[in-house]
Amino acid sequence: PTNHHWHQSSATPEQTPPRSQTLCTRREAYERAFPLYKQPVEVGCFSLDSQRRFFNDSRQMRYYVEPDRSPNFDLSDGYRGRYVKRDENVKEKLDHILRWIVANRSKLKSKLSPDASCPLDFDFVTWRGHLTKLLTTPYETREGWLLAVTRFNGTLYISEVETEAARRERENRPERNQEMMYWGYKFEQYMCADKTYSEPDPSGVVNTNEAFCTVVQTRLTDHKLLFSGEVDCRDKDPDAPPPPACYVELKTSAEICTPKQRSNFHRFKLLKWWAQSFLPGVPRVVAGFRDHDGIVVSVETFQISKISQLIKNEYNCWKPTVCMNFCCDFLSFVKREATEDNPSVVYLFSWEPHKDVTYSVHRDSQYSFLPDWYIKEMTC
Ligand code: A3P
Ligand code: MG
Ligand code: MG
Repeated sequence: PTNHHWHQSSATPEQTPPRSQTLCTRREAYERAFPLYKQPVEVGCFSLDSQRRFFNDSRQMRYYVEPDRSPNFDLSDGYRGRYVKRDENVKEKLDHILRWIVANRSKLKSKLSPDASCPLDFDFVTWRGHLTKLLTTPYETREGWLLAVTRFNGTLYISEVETEAARRERENRPERNQEMMYWGYKFEQYMCADKTYSEPDPSGVVNTNEAFCTVVQTRLTDHKLLFSGEVDCRDKDPDAPPPPACYVELKTSAEICTPKQRSNFHRFKLLKWWAQSFLPGVPRVVAGFRDHDGIVVSVETFQISKISQLIKNEYNCWKPTVCMNFCCDFLSFVKREATEDNPSVVYLFSWEPHKDVTYSVHRDSQYSFLPDWYIKEMTC
């Protein structure tokens, strides 16, 4: 087996390599063949309405509308007056996914019997966004993360905890950054219609409580995964392929004027965009390039499958295989270390840039995140 990424404290006489309580995040340790990643399959979806209420259906689905070649969208329009912002102080943890699991448990096959969902036939349940953070970890130099893990009925639930640094940054976000966050959502409003037959309505309110989420299952080597992620919109063509292949991710980015800007776009933006969409099998990103005043000057489509080719000319650039191998080894590390099956125990995995992943164990603490209603429902 390849153990070159494990920290070896000292030479040991045993045949088996020494097990470390830490996991290395250096890119060189993950440069090996691309791991098996099964084509993600959508097993369901859910919606969150303008008041962030859960619905076990696709009512918040939106449809992609091809824009003009030079669209001139004003992304600041409505920032003062037509903006309802989700309350970021409310920590939803895995609650919406757990509600979806409870509502759809009869559709999910069990490890023991094909009729019951107890225990779940998944090794991991989490948000796509948490997996995106894992994929980009070997290349991240600025922001660390905290991931709470609980083993319950054999399944490992992974839920992010906001770091102190992230909370401070959020609470001290400059006004300009607040407005730039709005730009991304405003772009979605310019590009999406509520119905297959309707047009976008830029005169409406931007409400960031609203979301349509896909739930997908897949496998990364021997890790069976169930995760959910927000989807911006879908192809409205009734002959489009079934989900997730019909989904479209929307993004905004500063317009590219210099070779340096192009290089940075390849190195940083495309890494994040690739990781986010590759995981659920979303095949394309439609990007709006905007100037300093938030005016979209051009729109370009990126096929996720072509991104690794696009970046190959970049010196010392990120590699998809490193991202996937690190994620895979992190999940193996979690499986090996988070052994106690107990909904009130949290293994808190912690990472800071330029360091190894470490963890601590917490019993009946502030970190416990599986709600009583879920434990009750899933205890068979
Ligand atoms: P952009 O994608 O244009 O940056 P998503 O792209 O994942 O659908 O997210 C929609 C928008 O939410 C983003 O638009 C951005 O404005 C905002 N957003 C998402 N994640 C963010 C983050 N970590 N920090 C700041 N803004 C974020
Ligand atoms: Mg989105
Ligand atoms: Mg988007």
